[in-house]
Amino acid sequence: MRAMMVAGLVVAGLVLAGPASASSELAKKSGCLNCHAVDTKKVGPAYKDVAAKYKGKDGSDATLVAKIMAGKEHPKVKASEDDVKALVKWVLAM
Ligand code: HEC
Repeated sequence: MRAMMVAGLVVAGLVLAGPASASSELAKKSGCLNCHAVDTKKVGPAYKDVAAKYKGKDGSDATLVAKIMAGKEHPKVKASEDDVKALVKWVLAM
C-alpha cells in the first residue's frame, strides 16, 4: 500500500515536471540556448524578459513564431515551425 502511494507520487511528480523540462530540452536541442538563457541576457534577451514584455498582449505568440521562422529580424533557427510554436508558448508562460 505504502509502496503504491510512493509510486503514485513519483508518477504525479513526473507528469508535473514533464512539460517544462521537455521544453528546455527542446530549446537546448534547437540551439536556442546558444543565444538565450531563461533569466540572463546573452546574445538574445532573457526568456523571462521576453515573457514580461509580451504579457497580456493578444496574438503575441503568433507574431513571435512568424518573426523567428522568417529569419530576418531574428537570426535563422533550424527548429521546425511546430517546435518554435512549442518553444514560444514555453517562453511566454514564464
Ligand atoms: C544566433 C543567436 C540566436 C539563436 C540561435 C536564437 N535566438 Fe532568439 N533572439 C536572438 C536575438 C539577438 C534576439 C533579439 C532580437 C530580436 O528581438 O529579434 C532574439 C529574440 C528572441 C525572442 C524575442 C523576440 C521579440 O520580438 O522580443 C524570442 C521569443 C526568441 N528570440 C526565441 C528564440 C527561440 C525559440 C530560439 C530557438 C528556436 C532562438 N530564439 C534562437 C538571438 C538568437
